[in-house]
Amino acid sequence: MAANLIDKDVITALAARAAGIDQSGGNPRLKQVVNRLLADLMVAIDELDISMDEFWCGIAYLTQAGKQNEFGLIVPGVVLEHFLDLRLDEAERRAGLAGGTARTIEGPLYIAGAPTSKAEARLDDGTDDGEVLFMEGQVRGVCGEPIAGAMVDVWHANTMGNYSHFDPTQAAFNLRRRIETDKDGRYRFRSIMPSGYACPPGSQTEKLLQAMGRHGNRPAHVHFFVSAPGYRKLTTQINIDGDKYLRDDFAFGTRDELIPQIERITDAAEIHKGGINKPFARIRFDFSMTKEVTGAPVTIVAREHAQAA
Ligand code: BEZ
Ligand code: FE
Repeated sequence: MAANLIDKDVITALAARAAGIDQSGGNPRLKQVVNRLLADLMVAIDELDISMDEFWCGIAYLTQAGKQNEFGLIVPGVVLEHFLDLRLDEAERRAGLAGGTARTIEGPLYIAGAPTSKAEARLDDGTDDGEVLFMEGQVRGVCGEPIAGAMVDVWHANTMGNYSHFDPTQAAFNLRRRIETDKDGRYRFRSIMPSGYACPPGSQTEKLLQAMGRHGNRPAHVHFFVSAPGYRKLTTQINIDGDKYLRDDFAFGTRDELIPQIERITDAAEIHKGGINKPFARIRFDFSMTKEVTGAPVTIVAREHAQAA
């Protein structure tokens, strides 16, 4: 067939009718969004001359992705989760909210309700013989004030790049903790150095990425939600410097400000002080939080999470 077969006015009218624009009932915002998306999709089908076979192939792909619960994986893979971050960054800039630790994507692998502890925690259960990682720092406001009682909710993958809960071989909440900062705003944890996540082989996400000539790998990283009363919730990650995929994250999560220096500790006295018997890695990373202000776009995202059993 040829491209541009349908007059744009016909498409506009069809989209409006399909979205119920001429009806009084329903949710006006939903109608507005559906109207726009439908119109844009019909224009794309017409201009790209998308065939029947291509269209139904796409629907079959999405149907299977839904059955496999993969939309949380496809969304970052096609840059949309990062795009939402860019929009929030710009909205904050326009609201005069400057500074603070850079945000980056949450990803689909958070589980609510990890065990809590005060000031410090051990995240790993000792079954993974990875490089020991000590990470510590301070949570402060952008003006430098330490924030006591801030909650540092941290989660990361094991040395195979797998996350507890989604990987049934790991114990519940392995490599997941919530740490409340001490009176000086400090947190500290012991864990193992993670490896980067890779999209499950054979998944719908991997199939799409491969069809676009892309890979489905992330650099090693550690996720954080940092929250405190009166401050804007921060969703971020640190990336592990030196990882092959550091600048080639399939989920577009790497940001220059989020690549801390890693110290490799080999001195026997320091190792002994750390209470372990082999060299270890240390990362120091402080979080800087912006104050909540009325009228600024919210950073607390209502998002469905997998639930711990
Ligand atoms: C992750 O954080 O591990 C992740 C992020 C986006 C897609 C898949 C995984
Ligand atoms: Fe992750």
